[in-house]
Amino acid sequence: MMDWTDRHCRYFLRLLSPHARLYTEMLTAASLIHGDAARLLQFNKEEHPVALQLGGCDPGMMSRASRLGELQGYDEININVGCPSDRVQSGQFGACLMGQPELVAACVAAMRDVVTIPVTIKTRIGIDDHDSYEFLRHFIDAVAAAGCETFIVHARKAILEGLSPKDNRSVPRLDYSRVYRLKQERPDLTIVLNGGITTIDQVREHLSHVDAVMIGRQAYQDPWFLTEIEQVFHATPVPGRHEVIEQMAVYIEHELAQGVALKHMTRHLLGLFNGQPGARLWRRYLSENAHRPGAGIDVLYSALGKLPKVA
Ligand SMILES: Cc1cc2nc3c(=O)[nH]c(=O)nc-3n(C[C@H](O)[C@H](O)[C@H](O)COP(=O)(O)O)c2cc1C
Repeated sequence: MMDWTDRHCRYFLRLLSPHARLYTEMLTAASLIHGDAARLLQFNKEEHPVALQLGGCDPGMMSRASRLGELQGYDEININVGCPSDRVQSGQFGACLMGQPELVAACVAAMRDVVTIPVTIKTRIGIDDHDSYEFLRHFIDAVAAAGCETFIVHARKAILEGLSPKDNRSVPRLDYSRVYRLKQERPDLTIVLNGGITTIDQVREHLSHVDAVMIGRQAYQDPWFLTEIEQVFHATPVPGRHEVIEQMAVYIEHELAQGVALKHMTRHLLGLFNGQPGARLWRRYLSENAHRPGAGIDVLYSALGKLPKVA
């Protein structure tokens, strides 16, 4: 998620969830080819398994960018066919690519030619008036024919004009049945359902229809949810929140020494104590102090000191 799931965020989420597959923010193929790829692709080895999400529609550029991703050590390359922003549309990629399945298939084929890791797609169930199950299946079939085996489907259509990216994540109604039907009719494909998942019961229900779920906002805003998923579905022992912060502090100290500002890391931690005594004090203290020039690790410990000991 753009501006959210950077490498600091992913490092933190991995502490909470040993099993989740993590995804980068979308990086455009052009930014990797023309920009500082080594910096943009940087990640921590603890993040594995981690997928690089690419935006783009030029098969040559997408294959070059995929290669850079594989060389850097990513476990999967995912193509963004879901973003509705004007910027992305003016580049002719993101959700509008649902209308050009042959082009997406050409990208997948070109990318698979140069990498050995899986090339996957994240898409919507439709765009604008192309809002039928048949449209979705036609898109999936065309792209699967090029060798893509995994599709993450955000179960709402994208409205390409007149709706902001934010509203495009809540206004078009969720239609899970279309994603379920896709799995029924294409059982050999791996179908991952995304959109609106906030509870364990929802996860359980979706998993009786599809292969996996992808969780976006809930995982970021209430990251402890990931530990609940771990406990229920993988029997992973749950760490204490303080313990997680202690582990995060080691990472933060290392990054501070490399010149990373504290606020870029602590901003991802704000939701950790949601629903716990002291949550507001934690959020407020970090928000008010982490951005100050020269802010160091003591800010994190002071924020921790605002909390009751056994949260
Ligand atoms: C701040 C933000 C940034 C996002 N950036 C991306 C992105 O870069 N690539 C992408 O495929 N989806 C992106 N999304 C969409 C989410 O991946 C997800 O499809 C959407 O939020 C619905 O899932 P959820 O209800 O679990 O959040 C973003 C969502 C948010 C809230």
